Amino acid sequence: MTSPALDPPESRKARGAFFTPPAIARFLVDWAVRSPSDRVLEPSCGDAVFLRAAAERIVSFPSDRSSAFLHGIELHGPSARTAAEALAPWPVSSRVESGDFFDFHPAHSYDAVVGNPPYVRFQDFSGERRVRSRRAALEAGVNLSGLASSWAAFVVHAGEMLAPGGRLALVLPAELLAVHYAAPVRRYLLDRFSDVSLVMFEQRVFPGVQEEVVLLLAEGSGTSDSILLSQVVDASGLAELARSAFTKRPVSGDLRWGGAPLEADADAAYAQGCELAGETLGDWGRAFLGGVSGANHFFALDSTDLKQHGLGNEDVVRLAPTATRHVRGVALTAARLAAADRAGGKTWLFRPGGKPGTAARDYISLGERTGVHRRYKCRVREPWWQVPLPRVGHLLLTYLNADAPRLVENAERVTHLNGLHGIELHHGRKTLGSELLPVVFPNSLTLLGCELIGRAYGGGLLKLEPGDVGRLPLPALELLRDHRLSLRGLRRELDRRITGGDWHGAVSLVDAELLSGMMGLDGATVSAIATARETLRSRRKARSAEPASP
Ligand SMILES: C[S@@+](CC[C@H](N)C(=O)[O-])C[C@H]1O[C@@H](n2cnc3c(N)ncnc32)[C@H](O)[C@@H]1O
Repeated sequence: MTSPALDPPESRKARGAFFTPPAIARFLVDWAVRSPSDRVLEPSCGDAVFLRAAAERIVSFPSDRSSAFLHGIELHGPSARTAAEALAPWPVSSRVESGDFFDFHPAHSYDAVVGNPPYVRFQDFSGERRVRSRRAALEAGVNLSGLASSWAAFVVHAGEMLAPGGRLALVLPAELLAVHYAAPVRRYLLDRFSDVSLVMFEQRVFPGVQEEVVLLLAEGSGTSDSILLSQVVDASGLAELARSAFTKRPVSGDLRWGGAPLEADADAAYAQGCELAGETLGDWGRAFLGGVSGANHFFALDSTDLKQHGLGNEDVVRLAPTATRHVRGVALTAARLAAADRAGGKTWLFRPGGKPGTAARDYISLGERTGVHRRYKCRVREPWWQVPLPRVGHLLLTYLNADAPRLVENAERVTHLNGLHGIELHHGRKTLGSELLPVVFPNSLTLLGCELIGRAYGGGLLKLEPGDVGRLPLPALELLRDHRLSLRGLRRELDRRITGGDWHGAVSLVDAELLSGMMGLDGATVSAIATARETLRSRRKARSAEPASP
C-alpha cells in the first residue's frame, strides 16, 4: 500500500480512495477474467489489488498468455507507481498510467473491466473533473444529474470500454439500487448488458467505511428486464457462492432495485400476497414529510415546560409525540397524548398564533440568548420562531424504525414533526381508512413490504421515505368494506396487545384474521411471508455490526 506519508487520509477522502479487501477483488476478477488472452482494464486501480489478482488469474491458465494485457489507470501518481511496481514481477504484459480515467476515450476493446470506483459525494465532487465525467456519461447517452456521486459516471464510462460481450465487475455503493440519481445508471446497465447480477452483503465488508456496498457483475450484449440477486454474510461467503443462489427479480431502471433479495418460495408468497391484497398504501392516500423545527429541544415541549415558562394554549399547538416510542396502539387519542405527556413525551409545539404575548416573547428571547435563532432552519425563516406546519394527516407513520414501522390514526388531528410522516387519505376512503388501516397494517405481508421497499439506515434502522410508503401492499377498499365489522371488533384487542408490548402477538392476530381469513392465503404461504420478514429484519439489524478488521 502507498505509504501514509505519500497519501495522507484527507487526500484519500477527496479522491474517494478506499481499498478493496483482497477476497472481494479476487472474486470479481475470477468471474470477469475467463481466458489467458483477456485484456483487462482497472480504471481507478489504487495500489493494484485488482490487477494483481488479474495477473494471478491469467497465470493460473495453462495455455499461452502472450496476448493478455493488464491496464491500470490511477489519478494519484504515487499510487500508480506503487501499482506498477506491484505488477512488474508478474509474467503478464501490463501498463499503469497516472491520469484521469475520463481523459481516456471509450475504447470498446477490453474483455473485462474490474475495480472499485471512487466514491465522492456530489457536494465534494466538483470542478473540471466532475464536468468531464458527466460529459463522458453523456457521450454514452446517459444524462446524470448534478446530484450524482463520482461512481455513477465511472460505471457508464467503464461499460463503454468493453468489447462486445465483455464483462464488467465492480464494487459499488449500495445506493446504486435505491437512489433517484442512480436511475440513469440502472437504465444504462439494463440497456447495455443482457445479464446483470448483484451480490449484497449482510454485514459491512469495508472496515471503517460506513457505506454499504454491492458487487456488480454485468455481461453479454443486449438488454435485460430483470436482475439476479444474491446475498452473502460477508466476503468469506463469496468463495462458495453458487449460480443457484441467485434469485431473479424483474426490474426497471426507474424504480429501485429493491432491498434484500428473497428466497424463491418467499418471493412467490410475497407476490401472491400482494395480488390478493389488491392495493397499496398509495391507492389509499399520499404520504408527506413532517414539519422541520430546526431545534426540537426548544420547540417541542411537555406540560412541565409549559408551566415553567408560563406558556398558554395561545402559544402552542398540539403535537404528535416526537419520540416515536410514544406512537403506539392503533390511534393517537387525547388519552394517549396525555399519557405520552406524563411519560415525558413532547406533545406541544411552541407556535404562537398572531402576535406573541408576554410569556411567548420571553420564551423567544430565551431562544435568542441561547442561539436557537442562528440554527440553520431557524435563521432562514421569518420570523425564526414560527415553525412551518405541514398539512394534518389522517394517519401518522413512523419514519425511522428500530423494529417495525407503526401506523396510527391521528384521532386528535394533531400536527407532526419529521420523525413521522403524515398520510392524507384519498376522497371516499377517509373514514374507513382512518379507522381500519391502523388495524390491518401490522400484518406480515405489509411488514415484509416495509423491509423490501424501505432502506437500511445506520444502526440497523429501517427508513421509509414518503415515496417508498406508497408502494407498501395493503388490502383493497372492497376487502376492508366487506369485513369492516369484524375488523372493528379487532381494534380493541389489537390496541391492547400493541400497547402492552406484545407486538408479535398483535401481528399474529392480524395475520390470522386478515391474511388467512379475509384474503384466503394458505398456512404455508402466510408462514413463508412471516419467516421472510423475520429473516430480513434480523439481517438488517445484523448489518449494523462493524466488520472485524482483516
Ligand atoms: C475506491 S478507491 C479504489 C482503489 C482500488 N481500485 C482498490 O479497490 O483498492 C478509488 C481510486 O480511484 C482513484 N481515482 C479517483 N478519481 C479518479 C479518476 N478520475 N481517474 C482515475 N482514478 C481516480 C483514487 O485515487 C482511488 O485510488
